[in-house]
Amino acid sequence: MQIFIDSADIEEIRDAAEMGVIDGVTTNPSLVAKTGRPFKEVLVDICEVVNGPISAEVVATDHEGIIREGRNLAAMHENIVVKVPLIAEGLKAVRTLSEEGIRTNVTLCFSVTQGLLAAKAGATYISPFIGRVDDIAGSGMELVQQLVTVYGNYGLDTKVLAASIRHPLHVVEASLLGADVATIPHKVIHQLLKHPLTDIGLERFLADAKKIPSR
Ligand code: G3P
Repeated sequence: MQIFIDSADIEEIRDAAEMGVIDGVTTNPSLVAKTGRPFKEVLVDICEVVNGPISAEVVATDHEGIIREGRNLAAMHENIVVKVPLIAEGLKAVRTLSEEGIRTNVTLCFSVTQGLLAAKAGATYISPFIGRVDDIAGSGMELVQQLVTVYGNYGLDTKVLAASIRHPLHVVEASLLGADVATIPHKVIHQLLKHPLTDIGLERFLADAKKIPSR
């Protein structure tokens, strides 16, 4: 499973990239707004730090507007993937953009039927929002499983990108179900890394190292 970081914060992205654990980045307007910085400036910085797919979301909601924004974003850097909302106008734009060879990430997916249509339209990635499904007492993981199964049944190329991940168990379950990618917030990446026995063990090794005679 590939790991993307779900962030627009360049320091968080740099931290994860330096550990060598991320294959790409996803952003959305809410994440960019949190940085307080202009969208394109943020994207330029991310493209300098990570050499992998970087999802940048359009804000237009009509076919022509999405295509225009999508072409502009894709022209900024070869790694940009255009993030498009899962609405009818969005799917029309996905079809056009994919015919032009521009990669897309279809976002805000909450059902397998939506995911099936996104794949038919030519989406490169589909983003099921696991945490937000769980928030309304549904099962985000069941959605991931359905998408993996349906795409597998018909040999559809669209990659399942598990999004709205809130905790390490989401990552474990998504990987067991065969999600192609999990996009993970910076905090959760560090939670994946942390183990109390590692910390205790390291503390002991360092204490014992001081007892070793220097000659
Ligand atoms: O990848 C989508 C993500 O940013 C949404 O996460 O936690 O706002 O549902 P969340």
